Amino acid sequence: QYEKLWLGMSLLLIVGFIATITYGAVGVGVTMIDDSGGNVDPNALDEHPEFSDPGVEKVGENEYEAYVVARQFIFQPDPIVVPANSTVTFYVTSADVVHGFSVVGTNANTMVIPGEVAEVTVEVGEPGEYGIVCHEYCGAGHHSMEGMLRVV
Ligand code: CUA
Repeated sequence: QYEKLWLGMSLLLIVGFIATITYGAVGVGVTMIDDSGGNVDPNALDEHPEFSDPGVEKVGENEYEAYVVARQFIFQPDPIVVPANSTVTFYVTSADVVHGFSVVGTNANTMVIPGEVAEVTVEVGEPGEYGIVCHEYCGAGHHSMEGMLRVV
């Protein structure tokens, strides 16, 4: 008689453990979807207020913000067009794997990590064109992953 009782209690415990583990896993999943603290969900960029339609916004006199999405193997938008003699803050995130974001000839150089938003500010002067390159290996097309910053 007692053996049956113990068996039943053991089964209850095991079911309880499994339920706890499952619930814990679901909890972690919910936390990862939450985009707070400057982070962003790489799988939901389409719903992000800025990254869903990446581009340049004027935020002050001669001050601009450029939202950029890196993905295998492009930068969006391309080209990034900003007015001459202005301060441009880039916010860059990745839709897939780790990329690099380097504006050749400027101090803008950062890693781009999915789930995070990299921020880098550049003072642009005269009109011209600056190449943008990915400097972190990101797959077969890495060497051709380029963009353009056009100062007009
Ligand atoms: Cu993207 Cu290398």
